[in-house]
Formats: sequence, C-alpha cells, structure tokens
Amino acid sequence: MLSAPATKTFASCAAALLLAAIAVLASLGPAEAETPDETFKSLGLTRSATPKELYDALTKRYYDPAQGAGKGSLSQYWQPIPITKYLDPRDFYAPPQGIEMDARREQCVECHEQTTPGWAHSWRASVHGNLEEIRNLSDKDSRAYKKGLIADVEANLRSMGLLKAGEPLKEVGCIDCHMGVGKEHGQHKTELKMPDAAACGQCHLQQFAERESERDTAVWPQGQRGVGRCFNQHHHAVALFHVQDSGPRHIKPQVPIGRQDLSWKLLVSLGDQHTTGAVAKG
Ligand code: HEC
Ligand code: HEC
Ligand code: HEC
Repeated sequence: MLSAPATKTFASCAAALLLAAIAVLASLGPAEAETPDETFKSLGLTRSATPKELYDALTKRYYDPAQGAGKGSLSQYWQPIPITKYLDPRDFYAPPQGIEMDARREQCVECHEQTTPGWAHSWRASVHGNLEEIRNLSDKDSRAYKKGLIADVEANLRSMGLLKAGEPLKEVGCIDCHMGVGKEHGQHKTELKMPDAAACGQCHLQQFAERESERDTAVWPQGQRGVGRCFNQHHHAVALFHVQDSGPRHIKPQVPIGRQDLSWKLLVSLGDQHTTGAVAKG
C-alpha cells in the first residue's frame, strides 16, 4: 500500500505524463501523424496540407501511368487472371450485366440480404456496419480508441466536401465502397465498382498515405534500383490494410453468384473487408 501523500504524488505524476502524451498526440494532425516527410516532399506538399490536398496529390500519383498505374506496356501479351480485377479494379473490373437498376442506398442491403446473404451478414457484423455501436462504447472499453478514428475519418470527408460540418458519418454502406463515398443511388450495370486503395483512402487517408509512402522510402541496399522501385509497380488495392488487417479472421468461404472462380484461399489471403473487425468480438 502507498501512503496517502505518496499516492497523491503518484497520481499527479501520472496525470502529468498523460497530459504530455495528449499534448504530443494533439500536435500531430489526423492525416499526417505517421506519413513520412519524404512523401510530403515528393508530392510537393508541407505537413500543413489539408486532408483534401494530401488526398488529391496521392491519388494523382496513384493513377498516373508514368508512375506505374494502368495495364502497362506489355498488357497486349498477357491476359488478366480472375484475381487481377480485385488488385487493379480500375483497369480490370467490369460490373455484371445481369442486373439493370438504378438502386438507392438502402436497397443495396435489402436486396443483397436475399441475393448474397453471406456478404450482407458479414458487413452487418463489421465495424463499417456499426459505427453507432462504436460511438456508444464506454471510454473504459478497450475499443474506445476507435471513436477517435471515426472522428479522423469524418474530418477527412469534411475536408473533401463529402460530409457537412457537424454532420456525423451515419454508416459505411455497400454503396460507399461499391459506387462512391456518399452516393445516394447508382446504376448497378454501369456504376458498380470494386474499391481500390484510393476508394478506401478517402476515409482512411493516413493508411492510404502510409501505403503510398513506400514509393518514397523503400530503398535498395546497394542502390540497385531507384527509390520505391518494385513497390510502385504494384496495385494492391485490397491489400491496403496489410498491417492493420492481418489478424486472424475466421471467415467462411463465400462464393458469390457468378464468381465461383475466386477460391476460398484467395479470399482469405486477400482479406475480406466484410469481415474485418466484427464489433461484438472486439
Ligand atoms: C434488386 C436486387 C439488387 C439490388 C437492389 C442491388 N443488387 Fe447488387 N447484385 C444483385 C444480384 C442479383 C447480383 C449478382 C449479379 C450477377 O452476378 O450477375 C448483384 C451483384 C452485386 C455485386 C457483386 C458484383 C460482382 O462483380 O460479382 C456487388 C458488389 C453489388 N451487387 C453491390 C450492390 C450495391 C452497392 C447496390 C446498391 C447501390 C446493389 N448491389 C443493389 C442484386 C441487387
Ligand atoms: C469497406 C468497403 C466495403 C463495403 C462497405 C462493402 N463491400 Fe463488398 N467488397 C469490398 C471489397 C474490397 C471486395 C472485394 C474482395 C473482398 O473483400 O473479398 C468486395 C466484394 C463484394 C462482393 C463479391 C464480388 C466478387 O466479385 O467476388 C459482393 C457480392 C459484395 N462485395 C457485396 C457487398 C454488399 C451487398 C455490401 C453491403 C451489405 C458490401 N459489399 C459492402 C468492399 C466493401
Ligand atoms: C465512407 C468511409 C469509409 C470507407 C469508404 C472505408 N472505410 Fe473502413 N472504416 C471507416 C470508419 C468510420 C471506420 C471506424 C473507425 C476506424 O477504425 O478507422 C472504419 C474501420 C475500418 C477498419 C478497422 C476495423 C476494426 O476492426 O476496427 C478497417 C480494417 C477498414 N476500415 C478497412 C477499409 C478498407 C480496406 C476499405 C476499402 C475497401 C474501407 N475501409 C473503406 C470508414 C470507411
């Protein structure tokens, strides 16, 4: 047991440390916390760039054929394999032609509860489908830090003009990933997409920036290749979260209609966004 004055000293030391930690955290903006200096430099930005400025610069480079985007100069000599459309959906994904409908946001879930119940179910159990549950967590809960992450996402969207001031992000619905963030409706036959890293990066700007920073920081030991070479040739769209998303996720094989070609093994190695971070299990 500590004596009363000792407890008091201990408590004020702890409070001082906590305040110092908060001060350090607060001095780092949401978007740039761990994005290396090299990336700001090569994008021609400073750390005071707004989330929108950082996102626009990253996306411009991400889609620039001169910097590795696109099918590549040898594309006439090879055929994409099924997984290619997930790795580089912008160049290789085309929506199925079976459904012709201008679907509203809420209709996506309604119909998919019937047509692809597995995908709808795992989305419902994910953080994306349960933002309100996260917001209502007690501060003592070990997942309470996610409240701050939601606020970061909202700040990014506000900076990009996708969310009004003071308005909370209600949900991350099917349409936000599969058509565009904030869209209210869209034509299934033509507007459906598989999300790429830039699509996730509108909300998860810091993770997108960190992922993209490999181009600026990956150096070969004897300088055999230029900075970032090798890394910038890849388009790991769904592997955006290769670090955060690497925990065990007991996902079931789900072979969606018309997609029997995608094996369970591929789904597991890709990481199924629908099952990331089931809220209930923390
Ligand atoms: C009336 C029912 C219905 C509605 C509403 C609907 N879908 Fe679908 N969706 C389907 C069916 C059926 C398929 C399978 C089509 C196929 O494979 O030919 C499908 C396929 C998909 C796929 C998989 C595409 C692929 O390449 O395999 C995604 C993603 C999807 N829908 C998203 C959405 C989104 C987002 C919305 C809302 C904007 C939506 N759907 C609204 C019935 C619906
Ligand atoms: C956070 C972004 C995100 C949200 C939200 C989301 N999806 Fe997806 N979806 C993906 C990604 C990424 C893939 C591709 C690979 C994977 O994760 O397995 C995908 C794949 C799919 C597929 C399989 C298509 C194929 O070609 O294999 C279907 C069907 C689908 N989603 C339907 C839905 C429905 C229905 C909803 C809403 C209930 C939804 N998605 C919400 C990101 C999302
Ligand atoms: C419309 C905004 C939005 C989009 C688009 C979006 N997310 Fe999220 N995502 C969120 C929010 C909000 C959270 C909760 C706060 C947090 O963890 O950042 C979240 C949480 C996550 C988490 C953490 C889950 C957990 O267990 O806490 C992962 C992983 C993730 N998203 C991956 C993705 C990927 C991959 C994509 C693209 C395929 C994507 N997100 C697209 C808003 C979005």
